[in-house]
Amino acid sequence: MPLTRLPCACGFVWLLAVVAVAWLSELKENETISDVKLCRKALLLTKDNFRSSIIPLNIPKMFQVQTAKVSGAIYSSSCILLIINGNIYAYDYEDGSWSILLITEVFITNIYAEYCCYSSDYSCSSISNLILVYAIGGPVSDAVIYISNSLGFDFEELSLPQLKLLDGTFEGIFFFHSMSKFGVLLKNGDTARFAYIEPAKNETWGLPFHMSRRLHMLNLPGLKGFLIFWHEHRLLFSHNSGQLVEDIPIKEKKAVTHESFGLSGKSIYAIAGYENELAVLTTDFHFYYGTLGLLSTSLIKITEETPVTNGSAIMFESIGNVVIVTAVKDEDDPAYNFVVCCVNMQYVLMELEIGLKSCKAEVLRGDFDKKMHILDMGETLELSAKLVPQPSQLPIPIVTVSNPHSLGFQVKMYEDGYTFDGNTKFTINITLMQQHTSGRAHESFISDIKIPSLSTITLDLIERGMSCIDLQPPSGLISIGCNWKKKIIVRRDLTACMKKFLEPIELENNYTYIIEKGSYDPNYHSRPQENNVDLTIMYDYEELGCPGLVYYNSPWKPVIELWEETRRVEVVKAEFVLIEIHGLYTYNYSMTVGEASCVSQAQNWSSVIDASTIKGVHAWDRQNYLSCHENHESAPLLWPNVEYQVLGGSTKNSIIFDERNGIYVFLVRVVDPFYSYCDLTTTFSIYVYGAFPKQTLPDRLVFMSMLGLMLILLWLGYVIPKLSKSERGKK
Ligand SMILES: *[C@@H]1O[C@H](CO)[C@@H](O)[C@H](O)[C@H]1NC(C)=O
Ligand SMILES: *[C@@H]1O[C@H](CO)[C@@H](O)[C@H](O)[C@H]1NC(C)=O
Ligand SMILES: *[C@@H]1O[C@H](CO)[C@@H](O)[C@H](O)[C@H]1NC(C)=O
Ligand SMILES: *[C@@H]1O[C@H](CO)[C@@H](O)[C@H](O)[C@H]1NC(C)=O
Ligand SMILES: *[C@@H]1O[C@H](CO)[C@@H](O)[C@H](O)[C@H]1NC(C)=O
Ligand SMILES: *[C@@H]1O[C@H](CO)[C@@H](O)[C@H](O)[C@H]1NC(C)=O
Ligand SMILES: *[C@@H]1O[C@H](CO)[C@@H](O)[C@H](O)[C@H]1NC(C)=O
Repeated sequence: MPLTRLPCACGFVWLLAVVAVAWLSELKENETISDVKLCRKALLLTKDNFRSSIIPLNIPKMFQVQTAKVSGAIYSSSCILLIINGNIYAYDYEDGSWSILLITEVFITNIYAEYCCYSSDYSCSSISNLILVYAIGGPVSDAVIYISNSLGFDFEELSLPQLKLLDGTFEGIFFFHSMSKFGVLLKNGDTARFAYIEPAKNETWGLPFHMSRRLHMLNLPGLKGFLIFWHEHRLLFSHNSGQLVEDIPIKEKKAVTHESFGLSGKSIYAIAGYENELAVLTTDFHFYYGTLGLLSTSLIKITEETPVTNGSAIMFESIGNVVIVTAVKDEDDPAYNFVVCCVNMQYVLMELEIGLKSCKAEVLRGDFDKKMHILDMGETLELSAKLVPQPSQLPIPIVTVSNPHSLGFQVKMYEDGYTFDGNTKFTINITLMQQHTSGRAHESFISDIKIPSLSTITLDLIERGMSCIDLQPPSGLISIGCNWKKKIIVRRDLTACMKKFLEPIELENNYTYIIEKGSYDPNYHSRPQENNVDLTIMYDYEELGCPGLVYYNSPWKPVIELWEETRRVEVVKAEFVLIEIHGLYTYNYSMTVGEASCVSQAQNWSSVIDASTIKGVHAWDRQNYLSCHENHESAPLLWPNVEYQVLGGSTKNSIIFDERNGIYVFLVRVVDPFYSYCDLTTTFSIYVYGAFPKQTLPDRLVFMSMLGLMLILLWLGYVIPKLSKSERGKK
């Protein structure tokens, strides 16, 4: 009987609400429990760890489900998503409500999601938003797959063009977050293998393995890419998301070892996995326990007398703690009761002394264990770990990452003194960087650096040993992506308020100003508009503060600072773009595309807005930015004399204002895709001053009054020094 529990149950909220589902099916729509014969299976949900008795869940009558057969279930937020008769339903276990999520023509057989329990940061918490549902068994080119990015509330058909070109029977699709790729399991004859697909790239392949019958898959928690595959007579393990899938050897007694489960003559009844552990019940109710890891995987028979029957299920409660639950039911009582048997593996293994090699180390600790770190573009991260071997043991530490296409690392290990009982201590320093910058991998091996990805990093010991339950390999999550604490701020040394051009009191009180007709384009194409009217703009003082001060007649470009929370990191030297958010275009750029030494035609606001579905100031970002200093076949350099509208980077481009005094509100966005994974953007305002007001008087009059003014100034220049001299004389 399958049993599943809340992901991250040891995390925050769910500590007391461990929920387990023992499966079910065949409950007629309005059947009461007394109708159900004992052989019928039921769907049971406990919120108190099986302490109280439970009445099975029934699907509501109104859904008109004839004979409900559940073929899959996952947790998603406060719901359990269930495949019932090929469609997807949700049961909210907080308010007890049911809903229909997806009814399709195809008969859905599988549902898949992953969970991240390392951190509440968005890169981690959003992992469970992605859910895949699909039907297996047909040719892969006809596979129907639905994807949800919203915890199952909306599903849409997933189109992966690469699938159409593959051969074989479709046996499943998974999104392995720990390698940021789809994995598709394909079967051809008696051989299966994984194809890994990421958008706009050719697929890569895992190694083939023998598969004559359909296998169940168990994706172990921890996002390390640990997978268990099994059917009654087969038990396989992969430590790298299916790239290498191998039989788990099984030890019966001291000397007897079988290369695979099939050779032991047993059949599997139930299975449970944890981060690095595995427990197996066989149909003859023998119990096996195993440890998982690179070169550490093995399974050993623990006992022949487990208190289990046909209604039993198995689950890990925590590291080294297995729970065997047996549902018991009275003929007359609708509710089920439970017999719960907890097995502490450390204790059991010690009792048995069945020739287990003792653990190879006393201490194996990493400062990164169960934590998430963020590695933004071009950064490095320093992690550190401690290792203390057991006396006379020489454990070999091994660092693995689940996504070597994205994450590179270097390891230094050195002796670091002695423990008080004389064992050598080792420190292991791990430096993480993007594979792209490590310079150690072939280009075809590296993921697209522009796309954020995830990877876990694990420090394990080769042949760690079965009895190392207290010595779990430390493992952490690395998010290669945006550090949400980063933001940009435009430096403002001098404001219009300091120089009394504007008063804060004025600005605070719903200050408005006019943008004259003919100086703005609401479509941001910088074209004069017919039928334009004067615009009255309300100034948002709370958001923008007092505008920075800029003299109209000197080339200008904002100084952008990168901040991480309250710490100023640096001045941004990367390429950025800006645009006046009300459409003012009374400014242009000092450089042309030719002067900026472009080798392909540079993008500009008009061309980007035309090509984008977002018709506004947010159209141009790091996703669609193309540097004109690289060759782009689609954009040969044809018009070198048009404006170059990108600032920063290697050019000295700047803004030149027309003769117009007034407020400009700019949106600025860093577009260099190699600066950060974050969308660094902000709005800021400036006040341009120093331009003479537009000429409303005839030219000659202006000339005459200018002349007059100059004469007066000249006279003042003559008379003031005189005056002060005579003042001094008086003193
Ligand atoms: C179940 O529902 C059917 C029709 O929906 C009804 O005829 C039947 O009496 C119901 N059975 C019980 C036990 O309520
Ligand atoms: C995919 O493979 C084909 C043929 O093997 C090759 O022509 C093409 O360039 C590859 N595409 C990518 C994105 O690697
Ligand atoms: C368990 O069920 C199987 C078939 O469903 C049966 O052959 C076996 O005898 C049962 N075992 C026990 C202990 O009831
Ligand atoms: C290892 O890391 C620690 C902490 O980051 C540092 O103090 C130490 O100098 C590093 N050792 C080496 C050899 O790099
Ligand atoms: C500013 O405008 C808002 C709404 O437009 C109004 O509620 C508020 O009273 C105004 N404040 C002042 C100081 O006029
Ligand atoms: C900017 O505008 C001025 C005045 O309209 C013009 O002389 C100058 O050539 C323009 N600069 C560019 C780079 O187009
Ligand atoms: C924008 O670039 C296109 C070519 O991509 C060019 O035809 C157009 O004149 C440019 N617009 C401006 C305002 O420079």
